[in-house]
This record gives sequence, C-alpha cells and structure tokens, in this order.
Amino acid sequence: MSAVLYPDALLRPMSMADVPEIARLDAQCYPYPWTTGNFADSLSAGYDCCIYQIENDIIGYAVILLAAGEAHLLNFTIVPEWQGAGWGRQLMQKLVNKVRQDDIGSIWLEVRPSNTIAYRLYSGLGFVDVAVRRNYYPAPAGREDALIMCLDLSYVE
Ligand SMILES: CC(C)(COP(=O)(O)OP(=O)(O)OC[C@H]1O[C@@H](n2cnc3c(N)ncnc32)[C@H](O)[C@@H]1OP(=O)(O)O)[C@@H](O)C(=O)NCCC(=O)NCCS
Repeated sequence: MSAVLYPDALLRPMSMADVPEIARLDAQCYPYPWTTGNFADSLSAGYDCCIYQIENDIIGYAVILLAAGEAHLLNFTIVPEWQGAGWGRQLMQKLVNKVRQDDIGSIWLEVRPSNTIAYRLYSGLGFVDVAVRRNYYPAPAGREDALIMCLDLSYVE
C-alpha cells in the first residue's frame, strides 16, 4: 500500500510489551537482527524507540540515541510487506521533524555499503558520506565496513 495514498500512519513510542514482536520482525528484516535484549536495553537506557503503525499493522520502527545535540539512528526499519512503497522516506521525514523539536542539529547513522536501497534513501534525503568504519558489521565472508552518514538539519527545510 503506497504511502502517498495512505498518509496517516501513526508514530508512537515503543514499550516493553512491544519488544517480542519487534524482535520477531527484525529477524525477518536483517541477516544479523537485534535480539529482544537489544531492544529492551535500548528502552531501559532511555533511547527514543518508536513504532510506525497503521491501525494494528506495524509497518516500521526506529531506535534513536539523542545526545549532545545529535541524533544517532541505531535502528531504522520498514517491515518487508511494506517496503518499496514510500514508507521509509515518510518515516525518516517524521523522525526529522520529531528530533528537531528536541533542538537536535544533525542525524547520524551507519549503513552497509552493500545496502544500496537504504543508501539511496538516505542520500536522496540529503545525508552525506562522512567516514568509513572498517570491518564494523558481521558478514557471510568475514566482516563488512560501515559507511557513516550525516544529515545536517540546518540545511533541511
Ligand atoms: C531500507 C528501508 C528502510 C527503505 O524503506 P522503504 O520503505 O523500502 O523505501 P521507500 O519505498 O521509502 O523508498 C525510498 C528510496 O529508497 C530507494 N529504494 C527503495 N526501494 C528500492 C529498490 N527496490 N531498489 C532501489 N532503490 C530503492 C529509492 O531511492 C527510493 O526513493 P525513490 O522512490 O524516490 O526512488 C527498508 O527497505 C528496510 O527497512 N530494509 C531492511 C532493513 C534495512 O536495511 N534498514 C536500514 C538499515 S541502515
């Protein structure tokens, strides 16, 4: 279902009760998913964890660490049956608007260079390549680098 045709998805806070379902979805989305412990620890640590939802359907979620005027996007996911329909772009735009209310000046994230869909989404929204973290991610053949990207919110309307 296209995000253009159905613009009223709700961004709501994640709770501990959501964690088993979010971890189940994460296992469908990544070869090296977060565990229930990773999500629970993020909530306990006070990270901004949110769920993007239409009625009872979870279409995506995000985990953000806010610190020193910067937002670090630790998890950003659209679940498989909703991918490729504009929801990722829409969720990121909602997150940009949300963190701006907390006087955040920039959003940082890491992405696998092999994740061309995510890379295109981020570059299309104005994120720029900043640096490479060598051998950051586990990968089938050893390790994969992480590309560090940043969106300077002072340049975003
Ligand atoms: C990466 C992800 C968040 C993108 O969300 P999405 O809802 O699928 O993406 P959208 O439909 O909003 O598309 C946004 C942009 O992504 C790129 N994109 C989306 N699907 C694509 C595809 N099949 N092929 C190439 N580029 C694609 C395009 O640049 C697109 O912009 P355009 O429509 O103007 O061309 C989502 O696919 C996902 O969660 N994937 C699995 C988990 C993951 O990789 N998360 C990111 C970790 S850093």
